[in-house]
Amino acid sequence: MLKGKKIVIGVTGGIAVYKAVDIVSRLKKLGAEVNVIMTKAATEFVTPLTFQSLSHNPVVVDMFGKAHYWDVEHISLADKADLMLIAPATANIIGKIANGIADDMLSTTIMATKAKVVLSPAMNVNMYNNPIFQENLSYLKEKGYKVIEADAGYLACGYEGRGRLPDPEEIVNNAVAYLLAQEEDLKGKRIMITAGGTREELDPVRYLGNNSSGKMGYSLARMAKARGADVTLVSASTELSPPKGVDIIIAQSASHMYKEVLENREGQDAIIMAAAVADYRPKRRLDSKLKKKEGPLSLELDRTEDILASLGKDKKDQVLVGFAAESDNIIENAESKLKRKKADLIVANDISKDDTGFSSDSNQVVIISEDKEVEIPKSNKLVIADKILDQLNILL
Ligand SMILES: Cc1cc2nc3c(=O)[nH]c(=O)nc-3n(C[C@H](O)[C@H](O)[C@H](O)COP(=O)(O)O)c2cc1C
Repeated sequence: MLKGKKIVIGVTGGIAVYKAVDIVSRLKKLGAEVNVIMTKAATEFVTPLTFQSLSHNPVVVDMFGKAHYWDVEHISLADKADLMLIAPATANIIGKIANGIADDMLSTTIMATKAKVVLSPAMNVNMYNNPIFQENLSYLKEKGYKVIEADAGYLACGYEGRGRLPDPEEIVNNAVAYLLAQEEDLKGKRIMITAGGTREELDPVRYLGNNSSGKMGYSLARMAKARGADVTLVSASTELSPPKGVDIIIAQSASHMYKEVLENREGQDAIIMAAAVADYRPKRRLDSKLKKKEGPLSLELDRTEDILASLGKDKKDQVLVGFAAESDNIIENAESKLKRKKADLIVANDISKDDTGFSSDSNQVVIISEDKEVEIPKSNKLVIADKILDQLNILL
């Protein structure tokens, strides 16, 4: 998906350097051309050889060392980059960028680039909370640098608190979203997105669920955020880590999701219903575990609330997007859903194919509106999300 894209990764001297190895490997697998610049301090943790082997490119550390390219190296890499990702980013590099210091290869290349720069800071919690560091970070955000906020949790230095480098998968997802986002064309727009599969409890240990992984909704949330929107993600069950910089509301069951979506609909410019919401729930939720007995067991089920139809019924001035997971008559079913639910867009996907749909990283969809059908070939879910947002943006 990143064929032809050039990403320069800056690696600085933090304990989380080892995670940068995985980041390089993941970006290579996605097809990007990756160049790594390490600071001198970073080479104390991991050798350049590791990054060279994974990126298939020479690693640059020394400003005045033997040149690997025919032209001035910091300018060449700065010009070549479609995106620069600094992970982990030390307090030191953040301080240097914020103060216009260019005293080694990495800080000089960052100064020289016109590409988007994404910073993923990681450090001890007291360093992270230091007001000088926080001021530097805020200043860089104001100046248009993108920041992947650090996670909270157990830190390698033995402290608890904010400062952990997020998982490589999360960093790569964010970096890809920023790379795909051409501009902040959704700035000032509020978008609510539902994701994941609901769970309808039968007793304290059992539920009726579905195979939705939440990846489509989470990709939409990441992409909308990268394009500048204020995002509220109403999430049912998923194993995924929450996207950075979005408001999250957890809603496990269909009725809980119904309540949260309707309570929070006011002021949203668009609502995208990407969650797989159960159509039925057990009529009764037992207080204790259902005991095994001889013979078959019948369950009585009730219909759940139809969230999309409820939103369409007394439609506000907002764009409504529904999903139709179909295994046959995909277009016909989606067109009928568009009309019945008074939606503006229906994203139809074929869940009968193994390599697309529910838990896969890729999907193949048709985006249906009143006057057109836009076919999106099999692509990564972040790319699909970007295309859905393109269609939604036309209607905003
Ligand atoms: C074992 C060890 C772990 C460190 N971890 C971090 C870290 O996670 N984050 C950070 O900002 N600095 C960390 N430092 C301090 C930096 O290495 C130091 O500030 C250095 O000057 C950073 O240089 P650079 O930004 O050029 O890579 C650590 C130092 C040591 C010795």
